[in-house]
Amino acid sequence: MTSATYTGEFDPFSPEAMDDPYPAYAELLRHEEPLYLEQRDMWLVIRYDHVRAAAKDHPGLSSAEGIAYHRSALPVLFGIDQPDHTRLRGLIRHAFSPRGVQVWRTFIERACGELLDEALATGDVDIVQQTMIPLPVRVITTIVGVPGDDLTTLKLTAGVLESFIPNARVGPRAELEPDDPAESALRLKAAKQTLSAVAGLTGFLRGVLEQRRAQAPRGDLVSKLFAVEQDRVSEDEILWLCLTLLVGGQETMTHFLGSMVDALLHHPDQFRMVRERPELIPATIEETARFYPAVQNVFRTATTDVLVGNTRIPKDARVELSFAAANRDPRRFPDPNQYRIDRITDGHLGFGAGIHTCVGAHLARLQAATFLRLLIERTDDIELIGELVKVQSPAFRGLDHLPLRLTPRSGTGAPAGADSRTGTS
Ligand code: HEM
Repeated sequence: MTSATYTGEFDPFSPEAMDDPYPAYAELLRHEEPLYLEQRDMWLVIRYDHVRAAAKDHPGLSSAEGIAYHRSALPVLFGIDQPDHTRLRGLIRHAFSPRGVQVWRTFIERACGELLDEALATGDVDIVQQTMIPLPVRVITTIVGVPGDDLTTLKLTAGVLESFIPNARVGPRAELEPDDPAESALRLKAAKQTLSAVAGLTGFLRGVLEQRRAQAPRGDLVSKLFAVEQDRVSEDEILWLCLTLLVGGQETMTHFLGSMVDALLHHPDQFRMVRERPELIPATIEETARFYPAVQNVFRTATTDVLVGNTRIPKDARVELSFAAANRDPRRFPDPNQYRIDRITDGHLGFGAGIHTCVGAHLARLQAATFLRLLIERTDDIELIGELVKVQSPAFRGLDHLPLRLTPRSGTGAPAGADSRTGTS
């Protein structure tokens, strides 16, 4: 048994780490055991085999205090332990299974096609703002069954996810005591932000559900959840499931699409390869999820003294499982820092592992594959024409801005559109 207090420089909440944590991970991965970061009073699990095992140890490592560094308890699916988790996830499992999401294929093609045509008509675009933000909003609101324009929902959901993860400590412990007034003020502000973002969205959803109760059923998730017997799910649980899906299915998707185009632009040989061999699109998505997981890490709380590797992590400790580091562990992936779309990516942790594995992973794959295929089909060239801006977050990897010049596919006349509406791939 060992215990390792980390004495190095790495701070997961520093601007450097948020900008690019990968050089630090390469160093940290030399450690054999999880590390205790005293200045943040948290444990860091980074080795692939440890992260995977820890993600599967849901009895020992609970999600009930939220999956961000800052402890918070909300009845979102990713913040609930068994047995409620199993019951609630069971209610949406089929809708998001590989077969379940196929129902939405034609719709997703149409949404992707329309948004890409708008971007192509613009020529020079910030594709994150113009295409990658609206696409998942349109998709998840339609699947869940939330009416209204994209913007209203976007405004309500934006900030909810981010507000879960405030880095409450303004400085490392060494510089700031936990009862420092500046930190207390920041914690209070963070808590208020979460409450107001969540209150806005729950208020909106309550109105939507009330209206839907009075209407005839449709093919969306709200109708499916209304059809479940009332002793298996309460009205509040339906509301929180809808909220979880609206929140979980948007920013993550935007971040993933941004990182995929970023990775391809910075690895032109790989971009050429997938252009020439579109059958590699699914592999490109898996390699992107390995290389740049949109959800870089999640937190858990130890419910008892738990063993990770040979290290005993004490009861009540906060534990970070770093999917980003684990996916670059050379013990598991040879030459892990190379982006290669033809590598074997089996078992990557880009969508998590264990009972909380992303329920939307198949929907995410379908959206990303459709987006990339249409982007390839409709352009001859894609060029970065300005500064790419990364999301500054300790939990997410993605882009806020990606200015591109899109050269439409030559010889096609008007932007292609008909094929995206046929439902074929
Ligand atoms: C590429 C985009 C996405 C990425 C990278 C991603 C990543 C993840 C990860 C890593 C988790 C595990 C969290 C944990 O272990 O605590 C997760 C959970 C979850 N994701 Fe995704 N996600 C994506 C897209 C989506 C979409 C489109 C939806 C909408 C259906 C969605 C809904 C959820 C939900 C509801 C959970 C909680 C599952 C549970 O606790 O059982 N995600 N996601």
